[in-house]
Parts: sequence; C-alpha cells; structure tokens
Amino acid sequence: MYSIAIDGPAGAGKSTIAKTIAKKLEFIYVDTGAMYRAMALFFIRSKIDDTDEAVIDAACKNIKVSIAYENGMQQVILNGENVTGQIRAEEVGNMASKTSAYPSVRAALLDLQRDLAKTADILMDGRDIGTNVLPDADLKIYLTASVEVRAKRRYDELIEKGQEADLAVIEEDIKKRDHQDMTRDIAPLKQAEDAVLVDSSGMTIEEVVDTVIREFEKVK
Ligand code: C5P
Repeated sequence: MYSIAIDGPAGAGKSTIAKTIAKKLEFIYVDTGAMYRAMALFFIRSKIDDTDEAVIDAACKNIKVSIAYENGMQQVILNGENVTGQIRAEEVGNMASKTSAYPSVRAALLDLQRDLAKTADILMDGRDIGTNVLPDADLKIYLTASVEVRAKRRYDELIEKGQEADLAVIEEDIKKRDHQDMTRDIAPLKQAEDAVLVDSSGMTIEEVVDTVIREFEKVK
C-alpha cells in the first residue's frame, strides 16, 4: 500500500492538485483540513470562545468526526450529520486555524487519519501529514506559492462565484493563517526534511500534477 503526503499553506492549491493526482493514480484522497473544519463548525455552532482551551477540551469529547465517500468525493460527517456543504466558509476556516493549535483537537483526529492510511493507497493533504501523521509516507510533497499568488487565486475563485472580494483583505487573511499554522507549538506547518519542495507560483495545475506524479514514479 502506498501513501503520499501533501502539505503546505492555505491557498497553495493542495486540494485541487491532490484530487487530480488521486484520480489518476486511483488513490483515495483524504482532505484533513475538512476534518479540522468540521470540528470548528461544532465550536461555532456551540458558540464556544476560541481562546477558552478548557471548554474546547471538554467539547472535544462530544465530537465524532468521520468521513465517507460519495461518487469518489470525500464527505465529512460530524456527529452523524453530513456537513461537507457547510465547512467552506471563511469563518469556519479561521476557526479551524485557531482551534487546530489545541492538543485535544489534534488528538481527536490523529487516529482517524492514521487508520485511513492503513486501509488503502491514499493521498492525504494537510499541514502536518509528512511531519507528524504519516512520517513514513512513500512520498512527501511540500506545496507552496507566494502570498501574492495565493491571494490572487483565492480572489479569482470568489469573483468567479459571483461573490465580493477584496484582494488586500484576502492577502492579510492568508498571512495571518500562515503565521498561526507555522508558529503553533504542536505539529506546526513546516516542510518535512525528506519532502520535495514544489513552488507552484509560476506553474499551471497540470505542471504541478506532472511534477508530483514524476516524483511518485521515482519512489514506487
Ligand atoms: O486546508 P484547510 O484550509 O481546509 O485547513 C483549515 C485549517 O485546519 C488550517 O488553517 C489548519 O490550521 C488546520 N489544519 C491542520 N492540520 C492539518 C490540516 C488542516 O492544522 N493536517
């Protein structure tokens, strides 16, 4: 069984690239960010203060996150409810970034993530997959891009959906999220020593996909 870990900051294109590669290689795609988002949704709905660690620790005991697949697409289940359609809001992403720094939140998801890798060939993306969740992954990719490029991609995505967007605000949000994810005490976002660095700033999706598949061919 093979495992591929793709880590990197928000907006680097991880999920688009990971989905495409998983399809090509016939691997199961596991989006771990979606799991942190599901937990964040629970905290938001419960009106929990993101700075109150004791309340968050206690709440974790009442949260069960699992995943399922529908037509090959990952669905995230929060306490029996499919919340896949509700976790993409900016508010949920920001809450996820803040609360994923707590040990109890990370511990609640670690076994689920590791168990998934025991069942099939998987491609898992997140922030700490290569460094922490799957330290023995067959291939580790650290996918990044400049803040400007990531902000512009997010801006274009929102405009395309007909939503309002402010490039400067998005850029600030991305910087804040990078800082939170890279400076937390446990499992911070960083490139694993044995990860291949891919900077997608000047690359098309196809180029990134081809690069990762070439790297996989080398280790297969
Ligand atoms: O990738 P996505 O934006 O969906 O992730 C939301 C948040 O979840 C990230 O900002 C990060 O704080 C957290 N996360 C994490 N570890 C992972 C995946 C996501 O801490 N493996």
